Amino acid sequence: MGHIKIENLRKEYAERRTLPRNHTDSEYKGGKLVVLDGIDLEFNDGEFVCIIGPSGCGKSSMLRIIAGFDKPTSGRVLINGTDVVKPRTDSVYVFQQNGLLPWMTVWQNMELGLINIHDKEEKVQRIKEYIDIVELTGFEHSYPSELSGGMKRRAELARALVINPDMLLMDEPFTGLDFLTHMKMREEVVNMHEYIGKSMVMITHFIDDALIMADRVVVLGERPTRVQMVRELKGRARNIETDPVLHELKDEIYLMMGVSYVV
Ligand SMILES: Nc1ncnc2c1ncn2[C@@H]1O[C@H](COP(=O)(O)OP(=O)(O)OP(=O)(O)O)[C@@H](O)[C@H]1O
Ligand SMILES: [Mg+2]
Repeated sequence: MGHIKIENLRKEYAERRTLPRNHTDSEYKGGKLVVLDGIDLEFNDGEFVCIIGPSGCGKSSMLRIIAGFDKPTSGRVLINGTDVVKPRTDSVYVFQQNGLLPWMTVWQNMELGLINIHDKEEKVQRIKEYIDIVELTGFEHSYPSELSGGMKRRAELARALVINPDMLLMDEPFTGLDFLTHMKMREEVVNMHEYIGKSMVMITHFIDDALIMADRVVVLGERPTRVQMVRELKGRARNIETDPVLHELKDEIYLMMGVSYVV
């Protein structure tokens, strides 16, 4: 179960000693950096939600609050009707970077999430299956520092997917992957979602990913951030190039991101 409700969410961070050169007065009212400014959103159980927004607008801040890693300044997040006050055991978070424990091998990192599986053979099979999916066979016993950037991302995804959680929160999981691996992982995540039907919230700066993968696309604006657009998308096997509605939506989102001419 993973019904998520975000009510009037506001997040401010305390003023830093040196203010950035391009800050505006409204951002720093009262010595605070206002990041999220009254966010209201609701995601259905089992939905695949993609969140897009400009860099620094507060996407990771919002996902951390949904995950219970951080507290809002005001407003609240409810999961299945209950206030989120701490991290949940039934959800997994894929970090924007460095989600693997550096002193453990890929295999050990993956084993960590499977402590409740006591059948050793089942555990080994599951880890092998996901290592194979992300094409890291042969690197099971490598430490994160011995992997390339893309390999680390794949290992992080495998670590999250192997747990088969009720809710998967992913912060730019495809960043740093080469094009083909990106396409494969996109397919894998969509298939996983179709198959298990669990709630997934994914931050991405790839607009195509959102349009192809999501049941619901959320576009956030510049900081202090408000919701610019929420759009439900139906059907699967979408093709942005041949679907005029998706094509138009893509142009609209680019415009919202301040890009008027895509080269
Ligand atoms: N712990 C923190 N303390 C102070 N300021 C923070 C903290 N975390 C984030 N910020 C600030 O909040 C703003 C939003 O950061 P956040 O990481 O949520 O953005 P984002 O939308 O995920 O950006 P990106 O797309 O670049 O990952 C930024 O201006 C950042 O400097
Ligand atoms: Mg971020």
